[in-house]
Amino acid sequence: TKQKLWGGRFTGHTDPLMHTFNQSLAYDQRMHSADIQGSIAYAKALKRVGILTQDEETKMIAGLQAVGKEWQDGTASRRFLFHNCRFKPAPDDEDIHTANERRLSELIGPLGGKLHTGRSRNDQVATDMRLWLLEEIKEVENGLRGLIRVMVERADKEKDYLMPGYTHLQRGQPIRWSHLLLSHAFSFRSDLERLQQLIPRISVLPLGSGALAGNPFVVDREFLAKELGFQSVAENSLWGVGDRDFIVEFLMWSSLAMTHISRMAEDLIIYSTAEFGFVTLSDAYSTGSSIMPQKKNPDSLELLRGKSGRVFGNMAGFVMTLKGLPSTYNKDLQEDKEPLFDALVNVSMSFKIAEGVIATLDVHPERMRQALTMDVLATDLADYLVRKGIPFRETHHISGRAVALAESRKCQLNELTFADYKSLNDKFTEDVHDVFDFEASVERRQAIGGPSRKMIDRQITVLREVLGN
Ligand code: ARG
Repeated sequence: TKQKLWGGRFTGHTDPLMHTFNQSLAYDQRMHSADIQGSIAYAKALKRVGILTQDEETKMIAGLQAVGKEWQDGTASRRFLFHNCRFKPAPDDEDIHTANERRLSELIGPLGGKLHTGRSRNDQVATDMRLWLLEEIKEVENGLRGLIRVMVERADKEKDYLMPGYTHLQRGQPIRWSHLLLSHAFSFRSDLERLQQLIPRISVLPLGSGALAGNPFVVDREFLAKELGFQSVAENSLWGVGDRDFIVEFLMWSSLAMTHISRMAEDLIIYSTAEFGFVTLSDAYSTGSSIMPQKKNPDSLELLRGKSGRVFGNMAGFVMTLKGLPSTYNKDLQEDKEPLFDALVNVSMSFKIAEGVIATLDVHPERMRQALTMDVLATDLADYLVRKGIPFRETHHISGRAVALAESRKCQLNELTFADYKSLNDKFTEDVHDVFDFEASVERRQAIGGPSRKMIDRQITVLREVLGN
């Protein structure tokens, strides 16, 4: 047990299963570069307070960079695990922090042992997590922008497609297909705003909080924050090592963003059924059945819907972990990693998949058009009489009777004769038949937010501003 970094006071060995149970290197190796970055900044801070000489600082930084290089060589990304990188974990490595420090000392000798002066893994891990998350969020943000962009482009190109808008999944009123697409894009716009609002609370530096009671060598924490690009410094060391609210916030954000992805996926799953036939998923995002040769299943959309449950589970699980913990660091907090990493990887992937699905979707305007039955103009029929001076509550009733009459005749509203309308109310004139025009109905909705062409253009403009073009 002498090999363990904390082994001094121990005489017995760690139970092998306990070692496995305790280790986090299997997953926290994702943070290797954040850990090296944090250590380089800390080495500089130690030199500034005289704990390291100039020469020692130079050697220390070179050593840390060499360790960082071992992680980078042969690895494709920060996200996936590093089976074939040059860095070789030792059996006693517990986590990314002990692994990097062990390797540093192998490379530069006893000088490596000065790095942890005044530092604890408690302030170190909290710093690494925040650094890592800030870096990853940039990619999440890009994914979100990419998704919004394809939605806006599609909406712009397919503005002419009319379809029924649904409430309760029952046909309600005519809308444009672009209006529906953009409605989902507006949820994603809010997600983008919310994500950006998290950043100041993630970008708070814990380093220099020590194990819990602060740093006795009086490292310059403002210098550290500047070096590492943090917006502010944790003002209370107990809070600095114990706070994980930034993770909870990110998980809550992820849950809501995935809820939006999931609701959009559900719309498209329904619209891709043969019964609706409004859209067909591209082969690239569908799969077949192992028994039914005709099947083309919307697995991409179903997984988007399914992953939302998993991400929500990460959030709920981690809040359970936090609840009831005493102040500062407790090992329970190591359980922050897998939910965060898992949520991040899945959210990020989900945006990209959703973008691909939307970009490659086949849309069938003629099927949408066929689904537009005249009954979706019943509101417009009532509005027609409103314009003739009758209160809406009465016109609603009169229009309802027209619907009932058409239903009893097994015909559409526009197939009732002028005489039929006259018998329902004498304010009807020949121009009643002008009501039965879907395009005109949509175009009447000129108030901000509506499906008229002009208002769709306005929505597109608003969203393009968010995208910065
Ligand atoms: N791997 C640990 C974690 O993720 C690092 C902090 C360990 N600190 C400690 N006091 N044991 O939380």
